[in-house]
Amino acid sequence: MTADLETPPPTPPPATPEPSAESNSLSRAAPAPQTRLARIEVLAPVSVVVPVYHEADNLPHLIERVEQVRNHYGLDLELVLVDDNSRDGSVEIVEQAGRPWVRMLVRTEDPGLSQSVLHGLRSARHPVVVVMDGDLSHPPERIPDMILALDAGQQFVIGSRYVPGGSTDDDWGFFRWLNSRVATALAKPLTKAKDPMAGFFAFRRADLDRAEYLNPVGYKIGLELIVKCRFDNIGEVPIDFCDRQHGESKLTFKQQLKYVQHLRRLYLYRFAAATTLIQFGVVGASGVAVNLTVLTILALAGAADPVAVAGGIAVSVVTNFLLNRRFTFSYARNRSIVKQFVGFCGASAMGAVVNYAVTLGIKRLAPDLPLQVAALGGIAAGMTLNFLVNRFVVFKATHHREPGAKVEATPPALPHPSATDAPT
Ligand code: GDD
Ligand code: MN
Repeated sequence: MTADLETPPPTPPPATPEPSAESNSLSRAAPAPQTRLARIEVLAPVSVVVPVYHEADNLPHLIERVEQVRNHYGLDLELVLVDDNSRDGSVEIVEQAGRPWVRMLVRTEDPGLSQSVLHGLRSARHPVVVVMDGDLSHPPERIPDMILALDAGQQFVIGSRYVPGGSTDDDWGFFRWLNSRVATALAKPLTKAKDPMAGFFAFRRADLDRAEYLNPVGYKIGLELIVKCRFDNIGEVPIDFCDRQHGESKLTFKQQLKYVQHLRRLYLYRFAAATTLIQFGVVGASGVAVNLTVLTILALAGAADPVAVAGGIAVSVVTNFLLNRRFTFSYARNRSIVKQFVGFCGASAMGAVVNYAVTLGIKRLAPDLPLQVAALGGIAAGMTLNFLVNRFVVFKATHHREPGAKVEATPPALPHPSATDAPT
């Protein structure tokens, strides 16, 4: 869904004042129209989290433009810069700027854009958080409109290139454009957002608690949040994405490969339940064939109905167990097969009894019906019960940490990996 904003298109940035030695308070721009201010005043204060790596040349411009927005709208805004130990003078630049609302966090371990963003989000002091790049590709002037969209009820708001009114710089070559479009298309099954790849987005910090755990690889922390926090009420505010003026992009080919790895994890995470159910259904269908075949053979061999029905059920329980253990619930394959077989038989016993009773019951009510048709009714009743008991009792998922995954101690908002995020 696209944010339905009552607000006009982006406010042009107030004129950039000339930097001067004694100007520690940059010239204040004229106040914004009263209606807008009134709405923004009731909004929660905002923490703007910016991952930076070798962005020393961009930092003064970034701080200046954010300051203008802050002053223009009277926002209670803190700027949290998260630097992966660039040692390029960035720390000194922030110190010299002497703005109490600007903080620089320097990380020395586990470098990475997504990790830096999570670090910044953890330390954010305000209830609304905005994440953006530090190279001025993302216009900070759009932040107020993003906050307004949150205020209007959106859960997650993207500064978007791909909604009407949004754009990318003209000199984006065909391949960069195509690359971005293909990457976006691959994320389609995960979200309806038009620009889920964006590194410019806003949400309420408390909503981090909606994620069981966060485990991004690569650049797409926004997509990770959309999927794991189950944001479906997503607004998109159009932006003009500008190419960086200083420094170089850090988006390498390796990062793009990481995106594929990240996508696989997100697909498994999002569709795990459906995948399990489909596999269980396929195994169940094979069990039906086994059941009916054995039942028919026994009946042809002259066995009484109860014996033929019981024989079909017994053999299909064994084949179902073996196939489910191998495929449907393969994540639990390293545990004791004997224990699991006992559990499976115990769980299937209920289904088997239901199956047996329903089959013979149908046969008694409609004696002319072929035994195989009655057996289908029994199988359907038994299978439903089976799935529920297996999924939630016999092969229940246990929680484990992904090998090599770093889980920081704080905060409660970013908890543990679980078995649903299969190691990749
Ligand atoms: N702390 C930290 N650590 N920051 C990093 C790192 C890192 O390892 N790598 C990149 N950054 C910072 C950069 O300094 C910049 O502020 C921001 O993250 C984005 O990095 P760029 O190098 O400018 O990436 P890009 O312009 O190629 O990619 C941007 O656009 C893509 C869409 O075209 C990012 O916004 C992507 O998230 C986005 O998908
Ligand atoms: Mn960039």
